Amino acid sequence: MEFSETIQKRQSIKSYQADKNISDEELDELMQEVILSPSSFNLQHWKFIAVKSSDLKKSIREAAWGQEHVESCSFLIAVCGKLNAFEDAPVIYQDVDPEIQKKVLPMIKGFYEDKSQLQRDEAIRSASLAAMTFMFGAVNRGWDTCPMIGFDPVAVGKILELDASHIPVMLLTLGYRKEDPRPRSSRRPVSEIVKMNTLNGPGLME
Ligand SMILES: Cc1cc2nc3c(=O)[nH]c(=O)nc-3n(C[C@H](O)[C@H](O)[C@H](O)COP(=O)(O)O)c2cc1C
Repeated sequence: MEFSETIQKRQSIKSYQADKNISDEELDELMQEVILSPSSFNLQHWKFIAVKSSDLKKSIREAAWGQEHVESCSFLIAVCGKLNAFEDAPVIYQDVDPEIQKKVLPMIKGFYEDKSQLQRDEAIRSASLAAMTFMFGAVNRGWDTCPMIGFDPVAVGKILELDASHIPVMLLTLGYRKEDPRPRSSRRPVSEIVKMNTLNGPGLME
């Protein structure tokens, strides 16, 4: 599929064929692409929890305003952010030239250590970028997704057994759509959302 077509085709799909599943192998293929997503210092501040269990989906649905697609999707993916991803730097950089390691590792530690707001921002940023890769990769394979933040993060964290280093960033439904969605919801015009040079500049093409 042409990438522009993939972008056009992606819509948030809220009803799935509950009896048509995506296999672990198929999910693995998609995830091999998702891990190529960018992250600052390549720290990959993300963790994906692939929920297949009907019981767990049901419990998460209860913590997600009863939204039906949480339960009917093939996989419910909890995209989590890893707050202490900077501690993985020695492993991530282990094959890099030792001279570069000597410079970069202390830089990364100094950048993140004891900065809880930054750790959280970064976890959300990186996990969100990976979530977007996931959604486009899914559409490219003929599947559909819906990103979701309509859930109680504490309750969902408990169900997923998240520890203090992981936060739920968003849920993604993944599956085969049951029906086509409504026409795409409206978008603000490019001239309004792209300003030239400063926030007060003219809109693009104006
Ligand atoms: C961060 C985020 C959270 C969202 N939360 C929900 C949600 O809880 N439930 C839901 O059905 N859709 C949710 N959506 C989907 C949006 O409603 C949808 O992306 C938006 O209306 C644009 O429609 P489209 O994705 O079909 O283009 C969410 C989207 C984003 C990006």
